[in-house]
Amino acid sequence: MKWNIGTVEIDNQVVLAPMAGICDSPFRTIAKSMGCGLICTEMVSDRGLIYDNTRTQDMLQMTDYERPISQQIFGSTPETMKNASAYIYEHMHPDIIDINMGCPVRKVAIKGQSGSALLKDPDKAYKIVCEVVDTVPVPVTVKIRSGWDKINALEMARLIEDAGASAITVHPRTKEQSYCVDADWSIIKDVKNEVSIPVIGNGDIRTCFDAKRMLDETSCDAIMIGRATLGNPWLIKQCVEYLDNGTEPKKVTKEERFEMIKRHTELLFERKPEKVAISKMRVHAAYYLKGLYRSVEIKPKLFKTTTKEELYDLIEDYLKILNY
Ligand SMILES: Cc1cc2nc3c(=O)[nH]c(=O)nc-3n(C[C@H](O)[C@H](O)[C@H](O)COP(=O)(O)O)c2cc1C
Repeated sequence: MKWNIGTVEIDNQVVLAPMAGICDSPFRTIAKSMGCGLICTEMVSDRGLIYDNTRTQDMLQMTDYERPISQQIFGSTPETMKNASAYIYEHMHPDIIDINMGCPVRKVAIKGQSGSALLKDPDKAYKIVCEVVDTVPVPVTVKIRSGWDKINALEMARLIEDAGASAITVHPRTKEQSYCVDADWSIIKDVKNEVSIPVIGNGDIRTCFDAKRMLDETSCDAIMIGRATLGNPWLIKQCVEYLDNGTEPKKVTKEERFEMIKRHTELLFERKPEKVAISKMRVHAAYYLKGLYRSVEIKPKLFKTTTKEELYDLIEDYLKILNY
């Protein structure tokens, strides 16, 4: 089902979650090829952009194929977020800019007073959203957790809407809860009842049936999937097809997984320096192989590979064992 964030039309209700270290251009390209409606980037730091940090610049790579795309930023002051959003709009032209108000990582939330720390300071959060909305001509969205240590998602959602945001994503766990408890979807429902901008529900979707259940139980406008796409981008396609026409998912074959490893490797080597590409691909390959017969045994060897050729040799030997 089509829906909109401001003026941006989105073909279906499946959104790829922003994941630091994961959602780079190659991973997003694969998600898009699975029919993902809206793709989110990994977060970039407001200060990294201002100080022209090369790693941050590298993280901003995107291709038109990935559109519509939402670029996420995190930061702690209205002024730095204004400058960062202006820079991103001018250089990257993303379709949407998303503000991170959920990251619980110490460096971001405690040292940087950004991410989920903004949930403790609603006034500052409001000013940040106002500044970014005033700065860029594209829709601005915000992704929140349900609170810092206590739940204030409704208050936050109201002020985010008042500040001019065009949509809000709710990951219904507090910063203190990290990932230790199940996501409480009833908070997504409460937020949906509270605001009139679109609400994207997020947390613990592992199957297309979960995706449908979240839409039904919360009435949210779209669902966002993170961890379950690791090693399983087919989940995106399964969700799109199940939500759009009730098609039941097919089992992903080992051959499909091996093909995907190659495709992902090629994309990484095309777009990243060799060392970065191989170290990222080792992680992704381990996810793609997860659950296959004796895959645990090849993991240590996988993490010792230093070239694309070594990785392919290892994978091909393993496929022979599986087909034996
Ligand atoms: C490795 C990893 C990196 C993440 N990085 C970000 C990020 O950069 N920005 C953000 O808003 N959330 C980030 N998240 C949180 C996810 O977007 C999502 O809210 C969370 O994982 C819950 O959804 P899930 O149950 O579908 O994984 C990250 C999560 C993981 C596992």
